[in-house]
Amino acid sequence: MTDFNQCLQDLRESYDQQPLRRTDLAADPFVQFEQWMQEAIDAKIYDPNACSLATVDSDGRPSARAVLLKGLEHGRFVFYSNYNSRKGSHLLANPHVSMHFPWFPIQRQVTVMGDVARVKDSLAEEYFNSRPYLSQIGAWASDQSKPLDSRETLEKSFLAAKEKFGENPPKPPHWGGYSLQPRSIEFWQGGPNRLHDRFLYELVEEQWKITRLNP
Ligand SMILES: Cc1cc2nc3c(=O)[nH]c(=O)nc-3n(C[C@H](O)[C@H](O)[C@H](O)COP(=O)(O)O)c2cc1C
Repeated sequence: MTDFNQCLQDLRESYDQQPLRRTDLAADPFVQFEQWMQEAIDAKIYDPNACSLATVDSDGRPSARAVLLKGLEHGRFVFYSNYNSRKGSHLLANPHVSMHFPWFPIQRQVTVMGDVARVKDSLAEEYFNSRPYLSQIGAWASDQSKPLDSRETLEKSFLAAKEKFGENPPKPPHWGGYSLQPRSIEFWQGGPNRLHDRFLYELVEEQWKITRLNP
């Protein structure tokens, strides 16, 4: 075995924080999610609202990347991006996604599955206007996911957008939000001897049904 593979095989954590029991769970998964997000924030996890978003292209090939959760609106998980990006083109062809929150330092993960739709422009504008000025300019400067010949071209595009839009850049038409309406949400808490606790909330006839899963 190579040293590298040996090193990987020797990496081993044991999961020994608090267990998750059925009686600990809120009936409403959004209440449960908000509680766990607050605990992730309190535990000072770096970027606690960062999650992996998995999409599939029109041939069914998956890809994942990080996005930041920016709100829970009427039971939907909201994030923002460039509609012309690679993920944007995937979502046009196929709205089915999975969103994964990796809260490893507290031995937890949450996995959300469902469909996305674009949010209203008014909500996207409200959020865009709350962003730092230079991030607003950055949204104009970057043709997200498209090939770029050099860093210099990007920086020139940034300066040109600054010049063009001045102090109050409008939201670019190609930039906006997506909201994920979950069909299922799974809460995972690491347990000793790989006997982890997993609870799956599934929407069945408009009610959340909770099932414990094998780890
Ligand atoms: C911690 C973190 C947070 C990110 N948040 C966002 C985000 O909220 N929206 C976004 O479009 N890209 C975000 N990105 C960049 C994406 O991961 C990705 O590189 C970009 O959206 C292009 O993805 P695509 O080519 O698959 O569309 C983030 C990256 C990291 C590492």
